[in-house]
Amino acid sequence: MRTRSLGNSDITVSSIGLGLMGMSPGVYGSVNDDDSIKTIHRALELGVTLLDTADTYGNGHNEELLGKALKGRREQAIVATKFTFGPNWEFIGGHPDYVRKAIDESLRRLQLDYIDIYYQHRVDPSVPIEETVGAMSELVKAGKVRHLGLSEAGASTIRRANSVHPISAVQTEYSLWSRDVETEVIPTLNELGITLVAYSPLSRGFISGELRTFEDLATDDLRRWMPRFQGENFQKNVEIVDKIKEIAQEKNCTPSQLAIAWTIVNGALPIPGTKRIKYLEENVTAADVLLTKEDLERIEAVSPKIAVAGERMTAEGMSAVNL
Ligand SMILES: NC(=O)c1ccc[n+]([C@@H]2O[C@H](COP(=O)([O-])OP(=O)(O)OC[C@H]3O[C@@H](n4cnc5c(N)ncnc54)[C@H](OP(=O)(O)O)[C@@H]3O)[C@@H](O)[C@H]2O)c1
Repeated sequence: MRTRSLGNSDITVSSIGLGLMGMSPGVYGSVNDDDSIKTIHRALELGVTLLDTADTYGNGHNEELLGKALKGRREQAIVATKFTFGPNWEFIGGHPDYVRKAIDESLRRLQLDYIDIYYQHRVDPSVPIEETVGAMSELVKAGKVRHLGLSEAGASTIRRANSVHPISAVQTEYSLWSRDVETEVIPTLNELGITLVAYSPLSRGFISGELRTFEDLATDDLRRWMPRFQGENFQKNVEIVDKIKEIAQEKNCTPSQLAIAWTIVNGALPIPGTKRIKYLEENVTAADVLLTKEDLERIEAVSPKIAVAGERMTAEGMSAVNL
């Protein structure tokens, strides 16, 4: 697995990470902790070091799972977690007192002494970012956190945050189908030397081509409530995926590998999520898929910026991004 640096930090990470969110119940169908732990171990064996979790995934379950998986393997991993939400995605925010409380709870669940990358999961419009990042920087001084990140922050917030303490990573949804960060956020990150960590690089699995109908989603699968998976949007998006699939076949790769490679070509560090070894092994080889200028033009022709039907999140979710 190739490696790269994370922002201006001293951390070297794998060029593809692993997102753990779907290893908790109520996200993307049924889960099995033993299988998920085997997938995390396989990721480490393959040189995938960046493991992405959050305190809210599974109401703490996800961090606890990672803690178990890392027993005796801590030094092989770069652990990233996030704060902002309480149980059941209740928005708590970025007040300094909460930052201090949340980190201790994450460290306890993860059974770790320190976290490599600590993200604010969503910007809190009621607390100046300088105050939140000020509190986060105290955690760095205290040795509880190595580097700081933001998720779904807007360009001016990123700039203000970075003037308080260096921000190493900004995590946001970025894929062939989610490109709003290209206008302002990516140029700002490039200017400041911050890494874009691309979450949901497969648009929540849609671009893999495995999902053909709404009924493919389990009854508790959160994608049932997401606009891209609703009604006629679903079928329109399947048609785009089929065109992406054709290009992938010609390139001798899968649509997932093509989509992940596309984020890498665009400078991002993707963290595709899976609970399965099979998908993990497929996804990590995306680092070897070479996309030429002609390939990129063909991909753009079949999947231009605004071709996808439906916003990437619900209206409530969209109201909390790019702040
Ligand atoms: N900062 C934020 O606000 C935020 C938001 C969302 C996600 N994230 C992070 O980003 C990570 C990745 O995003 P994501 O999990 O939402 O979306 P994703 O990576 O776009 O897609 C994950 C889904 O795709 C499926 N999948 C993965 N590889 C596949 C393959 N090769 N073939 C077929 N299907 C495949 C997975 O299946 P299985 O479930 O069957 O394994 C899962 O259902 C998350 O785990 C989380 O750590 C962060």
